[in-house]
Amino acid sequence: MKFSTKILLNTLAIAFNLKLSYARKDEFTLNIIGDTGVTKEAEQVMNLHSFDALLHLGDYDYECKPDSYFDKFNSSRNYKFFGVLGNHESANECGETKYNKYISLLYNHMTNSKNSGTSCVFSPKKTMWSCVYKNMRIIGLSPYISKDEKRGDQLKFLKKYLSESSEDWKICAWHYYDDYYHTGKYIENENFVSGTGESFYDYCKDQGAIIFSAHDHVYARTHVMSRFSTPKIDSYDYDTPSNIVQIRKGATLDILNGVGGWEIYIERDKYKDYSHWQKKYARGSNNENAKKYGTLICKFNYGGNDKKAYCELLRINSDPKVFDSFYIYRNDDPKNVKYDEIDSKFLKENNGGSNSGSNKISTNGRCGSEYGRCPSGKCCSKYGWCNNTSEHCDISRGCQTAYGECNGSSGSDKISTNGRCGSEYGKCPSGKCCSKYGWCNTTEEHCDINRGCQSSYGTCKSYTTVKKTSTTTKKATSTIGYSSSDKCGKDYGKCKNDKCCSKYGWCGTDSNYCSSGCQKDFGKCW
Ligand SMILES: [Fe+2]
Repeated sequence: MKFSTKILLNTLAIAFNLKLSYARKDEFTLNIIGDTGVTKEAEQVMNLHSFDALLHLGDYDYECKPDSYFDKFNSSRNYKFFGVLGNHESANECGETKYNKYISLLYNHMTNSKNSGTSCVFSPKKTMWSCVYKNMRIIGLSPYISKDEKRGDQLKFLKKYLSESSEDWKICAWHYYDDYYHTGKYIENENFVSGTGESFYDYCKDQGAIIFSAHDHVYARTHVMSRFSTPKIDSYDYDTPSNIVQIRKGATLDILNGVGGWEIYIERDKYKDYSHWQKKYARGSNNENAKKYGTLICKFNYGGNDKKAYCELLRINSDPKVFDSFYIYRNDDPKNVKYDEIDSKFLKENNGGSNSGSNKISTNGRCGSEYGRCPSGKCCSKYGWCNNTSEHCDISRGCQTAYGECNGSSGSDKISTNGRCGSEYGKCPSGKCCSKYGWCNTTEEHCDINRGCQSSYGTCKSYTTVKKTSTTTKKATSTIGYSSSDKCGKDYGKCKNDKCCSKYGWCGTDSNYCSSGCQKDFGKCW
């Protein structure tokens, strides 16, 4: 009797856990934006898509006019607001009075009635915060920017609030970046966030938090990483298409997003070629993207699934408007659970037998929240049509799991039979790698992820670890303050406002200042 009671309790516990594991939560949209300025382009970017909450990654107006951004964008907002400090809000850049004004504006906007339904805790000087919104925790930090709360304080704050977080979604946000996580406009070898100490990135990764930063005015998304301090791509990332991101405690992605409206930068040198980048977007060699500002729109609890999110980088002045799109799955056990099982298990746990919500059956070939689910055996495409072609059914092409069947498999699950691979030929047979040029084989040349092995079409491996480069210029740039005049150099400090320091020690923005003889320790150089 005692034994069968135990079995019954265990069965109930398993059932209860399964229910918890695949719970339905309200979908919400987070707009993640950085380096906007108060420009007409920034306004256009804000209008690219509706959203429930905004996460601003810093650099609001670039002119040390604290009210200007908040007056323009936040005065009549109907969304929740979260924002971190950027260098253009710093005391170095704008003086202490204005720096304090930025801090109080951020604090006010994150605690006023328009942010009702959110709950934020601030550090003593209010340059760090931890906020809860729905089933998400966002930690906003300001390493290298905060005047009073130094890296040690920041790491302590991060650890306290992230370790106690029980929310489904966790986010780390800051303005600057560590050395490996920018694409080369600024070439200082500096861990602006972590310094020489423990990696903030790795701490967030260990907690399964998604990382967002800005400052470099590009868009750059990493592979899923199992280590950031010296980059290591997560082994499970090699087995999924590029638009499938699986995170867990110990593996996450970082997104640099600074194309919000002020200026889009070039990328250069080794930074742009790092193999840990999955997708990048910058000014372009012919300035073709110079005005194509954008923002990242992420839908969390996608289709009601609290283990899934869907993100798009949307751009103005662009066709197509979407530059990058990907799904994030919280998959604690990628070894045994394939990402598409997270969709099927969620549906089974939440929709099976019920006639509510998305289980209304469509009768007109359409699908979605308005029309309901497609009839049995049909898939609901990204655009809300029922059919069973791969265009409708592949998750990697936007198939909506909440409204019909979906294949986790994409077109790339077709198995190649002629030694070729890629979108035209399909995947290599088991155990073979698909080279950069679309050939199946097992040599290092084919399999090395650093040499372009295509993980969507076969196995890939990492043969080398990216080596950290010399940091000889580090001290010079990190400890120098800003000049209070148009002069620059060791007696005056760095130029403000992204200006260059000329050979003769003057700040400016054209080639007389920024090219030949330009002093990179005291400002920007081309
Ligand atoms: Fe910045």
